[in-house]
Amino acid sequence: MTENKTTSSLHYDSLVVQGAPARQNEYGAIMPPIFLSTTYRFEDLDHQGTYEYVRTQNPTREKAERLIARLEDARYAFGFSSGMAALATIFEHFKPGDHIISSANIYGGTYRFFSDLFTKNQIAYNFKQDLNALTDADFKENTRAVYIETPSNPTLRVTDIAKVVALAHRHHALVICDNTFMTSYLQRPLALGADIVAYSATKYFGGHADLCAGFIALNDPSLAEEFYFFQNTLGATLSPFDSYTLIRGTKTLALRLDRQQENAKAVIAALQNDPAIDEVYFPGSSNAVEHEIQARQARGNGSVISFRVTEEVDLKRFFNQLQMIDLAVSLGGVESIICRPATSTHEPYPQAEREKLGVDNQLVRFAVGIENKADIIADLQQALARSRS
Ligand SMILES: Cc1ncc(COP(=O)(O)O)c(C=O)c1O
Repeated sequence: MTENKTTSSLHYDSLVVQGAPARQNEYGAIMPPIFLSTTYRFEDLDHQGTYEYVRTQNPTREKAERLIARLEDARYAFGFSSGMAALATIFEHFKPGDHIISSANIYGGTYRFFSDLFTKNQIAYNFKQDLNALTDADFKENTRAVYIETPSNPTLRVTDIAKVVALAHRHHALVICDNTFMTSYLQRPLALGADIVAYSATKYFGGHADLCAGFIALNDPSLAEEFYFFQNTLGATLSPFDSYTLIRGTKTLALRLDRQQENAKAVIAALQNDPAIDEVYFPGSSNAVEHEIQARQARGNGSVISFRVTEEVDLKRFFNQLQMIDLAVSLGGVESIICRPATSTHEPYPQAEREKLGVDNQLVRFAVGIENKADIIADLQQALARSRS
């Protein structure tokens, strides 16, 4: 386990580039080497070197972990083979009889973890429709954590992180925040008092739809020891090669997100004027309160938006008509991709629950990429026009 003791004076858009330097290698290479060796020579029978075995420590993974920690301004970060592996490692902290409060509107895979594995492991949970309405009365003797995804997936509802932290800490409960949709470029849950930040780095950090990775970042040393133990014991660690890919992808994170956010704004404006669209969703679009929270706690809105098409639109035809934009799940890559959450990312939800969250068959989630915004808008508009009855 390595500790990040530095607070960099560099701006974030410099730190993504310079945050994992390969300073001490014999060739003067700018990029860090990929250490593929699974095992390391002992100095002698009684002395092991810094590294022993790849699952436990690896120099390339440590570079990636240090980078994510520096970007988050956190003391510790741990890299995993997927976002779900990162979340599963966090959830290993809880015991039978514990209780967790979560926002109802979360990634379908995380929902499945709650509904299947928490149930199997006798960990109780409550889904709150609106975590901004959380009160002392929601906490029980055995409440150990509040789980937040903000903005939520896929309706982009915003939770006031600092407000949840104040309530949770009064009840000695941890606050876990999945910050995948924002990244540390736009939002810093730890600085707002959250205890643990989780990422699917498969999304914006990787950024090129060619890497599956997850991270945890946190400041508390005893929780960090526990997660280091779980990381090694459960074994879903980030591979050396994927650690390298993560470092490379992250170098352009700020650049990509700047462009993606600019594109997303243009797409929102175009869709709001399209007769085939009932409603467009983005962080803060639901009401003035959430708009104010988002403006206060984040530096931008990211590039995932959702929209509900009118009943006149045949969605199957719409997806078939798209020429440039691909029908695919995931988000945060350079390519624009689009999906219907009800039958993909949010399929694990029972239909009634899904509909309560506004995730119906006419809702479309759009992860805006870095292409020219005119091409993105033209593709959406022609497909909408051709799919209206
Ligand atoms: C918000 C969020 N958290 C976690 C995950 C899981 O990440 P992974 O697919 O890298 O396991 C996803 C995946 O889509 C996600 O959208």
